[in-house]
Amino acid sequence: MLVDLFHYLTTPAPWSHRRRGYLRESVLLLSRSRRCRTAWEPHLTRARAVIMRACEGLPRYRTVVVLGSGLLDDVPLDHLARRFTRIRLVDAVHPWPTRWTVRHRPDVTLVTADLTRPGAVPDHGGGPEIDLVISANLLSQLPILPVDGSGGADPQLGGRIVRAHLDGLSRLAARVCLVTDVLQTEEDRDGRVTDRLDLLHGVPLPTPDAAWTWDLAPFGEAARDRRLVHRVHGYADWHAALGGPDRP
Ligand SMILES: C[S@@+](CC[C@H](N)C(=O)[O-])C[C@H]1O[C@@H](n2cnc3c(N)ncnc32)[C@H](O)[C@@H]1O
Repeated sequence: MLVDLFHYLTTPAPWSHRRRGYLRESVLLLSRSRRCRTAWEPHLTRARAVIMRACEGLPRYRTVVVLGSGLLDDVPLDHLARRFTRIRLVDAVHPWPTRWTVRHRPDVTLVTADLTRPGAVPDHGGGPEIDLVISANLLSQLPILPVDGSGGADPQLGGRIVRAHLDGLSRLAARVCLVTDVLQTEEDRDGRVTDRLDLLHGVPLPTPDAAWTWDLAPFGEAARDRRLVHRVHGYADWHAALGGPDRP
């Protein structure tokens, strides 16, 4: 609790991001990721593997952009650093562990941005020097605070935010790697599914290169006799998954 408070009070974040809850979510993510370290490791390993595959065979290795860099838990930073000249990390909040990790790395730039803002994906992922853009376990997170904040007034809002991010990625000239959770199931101790939640608000995705489960909240984390499991999709080359560079 005290550690959370320390992060809440001291993490640099724009006032508007604090007010809209991004800092609170980032602090909660930090503490949950540390509590669930063992349960999350298989998911993080799979996510890093997709990102490493996305690095293969690029014509040039100038700038790589990571959208939703957060704690860098799913980002193989050293692997990227060995290949690319510059690394740009984009998130609403850059927590202390990430700031600490990159503090002596002149090749790494931290960009603080709200990626639901119109034009955010081309603004941060477009440009002639960018050879790879990674959307790292971000997509399903994008609608959460806006939908909560709207109080359910606009039932289409979540789907529009998801669609806008995917459309933005689809229009980028660089190779795009997408890792995202798509479905949450709640299970009891007998393995029965007690609830399901479409994390992408009805927006369908093409067949992934890899798919796996993420033990997001093991028994005892969110509830004693319930666990939350997420289905995750990984696309090493999003344009290829869509069937070509121009198809949104
Ligand atoms: C599930 S976490 C994954 C973070 C990171 N890939 C990792 O493994 O640590 C989702 C990230 O999305 C970020 N995020 C959520 N909504 C955002 C928004 N509107 N703009 C920018 N980042 C956002 C959060 O701050 C968080 O770092």
